Amino acid sequence: MVGSKAGDRKFRIVRTVAEFREQVSAWHRNDLRVGFVPTMGALHVGHMSLIRRAQEMTDRTVASIFVNPRQFGPNEDFAVYPRAEGKDTLLLAEGGVDLLFAPSVEEMYPGGAVTKVSVPGIGDILEGEYRPGFFTGVATVVTKLLLQAQPDVAVFGEKDYQQLLVIRRMVQDLDIPVQIEGAPTEREDDGLACSSRNQYLTENERAVAPQLYQIINAVAERYRKGERPPELTHWGKQALLDAGFGHVDYLEVRDAETLQGLSDPARAARVLVAAWLGKPRLIDNVPV
Ligand code: PAF
Repeated sequence: MVGSKAGDRKFRIVRTVAEFREQVSAWHRNDLRVGFVPTMGALHVGHMSLIRRAQEMTDRTVASIFVNPRQFGPNEDFAVYPRAEGKDTLLLAEGGVDLLFAPSVEEMYPGGAVTKVSVPGIGDILEGEYRPGFFTGVATVVTKLLLQAQPDVAVFGEKDYQQLLVIRRMVQDLDIPVQIEGAPTEREDDGLACSSRNQYLTENERAVAPQLYQIINAVAERYRKGERPPELTHWGKQALLDAGFGHVDYLEVRDAETLQGLSDPARAARVLVAAWLGKPRLIDNVPV
């Protein structure tokens, strides 16, 4: 156990589903509300802002660190995904988190675990199209985590905006009794969205990266002034290529709730982008 700043409360790490579930139900027996922030570790200020949001809303805060193999494609970075449990643990303890659940792959997927949760429709487009199986992996692990702990509130970042919508849909469809809270994207001073994968950027790429945010803001501004896809999104993609991005998987202005194309200009819209910059693939989004 590591002492935390939260008075006589102690920061604990548990690695089994049984301990995780027992601690959360003990808090519930004492009428304490529990907030949960699932993560894949390599924590940064973005994660800590999700933790603070959970702390504002509840009495006890739980984080999980689990690099979920089922949400990585065969050619993706599972093997080399940044892992920093020692540093993460200190950050969580310092940040006043009460419990860290850090299971092994065997604990989460014991032999024979074949059941999957998929969210067709919203899970098949944009990221779902470019990363087949990604949202099924996310939905499966998040369902398991929510059923294991049964927290009152779970907080997810708007940085992964489509993931947030997929999880809301899944929780609604499966009647999982939890409030899903979205938290705004944390950014570096130059606007780059905080992400564990930013550490893959070289110095030159890091200098180019903030233009992703600038260009999607420009697309949002042009949309507000009456420009429309596909001319508008062609303009945005070209601006990214001119800035030095290698390939743009998508840059779209979509309905902010359904992520379908916009037919009614009165509905809220969102600009979403995924583009490659050297080795890393960066994603970001802004409201219109
Ligand atoms: O956003 C993430 O870090 C992951 O997709 C999540 C929600 C922790 C599921 O593995």
